[in-house]
Amino acid sequence: MLLDRGEVQVLADADQIARVAADEFVRHALEVVQSKGFFTVALSGGSTPKKLYSLLASEAGSFWAKVPWDKIHFFWGDERHVSPDHSDSNYRMVYEAMLSKVPVPLENIHRIKAENPDAPGAAEDYEQMLREFFRLEPGQLPHFDLVLLGMGPDGHLASLFPETEALFEDKRLVTAPWVEKFNSYRITLTTPVLNNAAFIIFLVTGEEKAGTLRAVLQGDYRPEHFPVQLIHPTNGRLLWLVDQAAARML
Ligand code: 6PG
Repeated sequence: MLLDRGEVQVLADADQIARVAADEFVRHALEVVQSKGFFTVALSGGSTPKKLYSLLASEAGSFWAKVPWDKIHFFWGDERHVSPDHSDSNYRMVYEAMLSKVPVPLENIHRIKAENPDAPGAAEDYEQMLREFFRLEPGQLPHFDLVLLGMGPDGHLASLFPETEALFEDKRLVTAPWVEKFNSYRITLTTPVLNNAAFIIFLVTGEEKAGTLRAVLQGDYRPEHFPVQLIHPTNGRLLWLVDQAAARML
């Protein structure tokens, strides 16, 4: 099924999604490493991608040996405002599911330093790190080879939530929105950075997301209500991997 809001693949369940996402990850990483020597990925938090990370890192599985681990630079699309050992930390989730089990040099792991009590300061530091890593001139955007994203039932992605100013931030690479419903700051890449990626994969599972997914993919363009509608790569590929439960209203 090809929609103008990206390519949608409906798969049986979360295991299938992890498998197809792992195939895409490995194929794309190998291709990019072959052409430029390294691969950059911005990872998603939340619970859906955990299976993908575990699958990639499982030595018994078919992916581990194919992944060019030492050539991959890992970044995060967003982070909760907690220390890296906190149970809510996206870094911790990825570390436990994948990074602790694979031969990745420490200098390839670029986490958001969300233990900084000053969340906007943590966002600035992350932005500075991105500017240095990607050697950006003023006005340039980082170009991630791959961005993995999830969608919340309210249509949020990364930490870009409905009806918030952060959605339309176009000067900063990273911002720290205050999220009322969590009574907390988040730290997130901004929309222009995400849209500048070469390849974006959304991983979406669960019945509770079916209505929002339909609105997002087939409804009117109302990005302030459904922030995921802001995601359309400027010059890249957008792929939705969706389970049957989430796709039941399409
Ligand atoms: C986070 C996220 C967030 C997540 C969605 C979907 O830190 O929570 O990066 O945007 O991807 O909330 O989460 P699930 O996949 O767990 O439903």
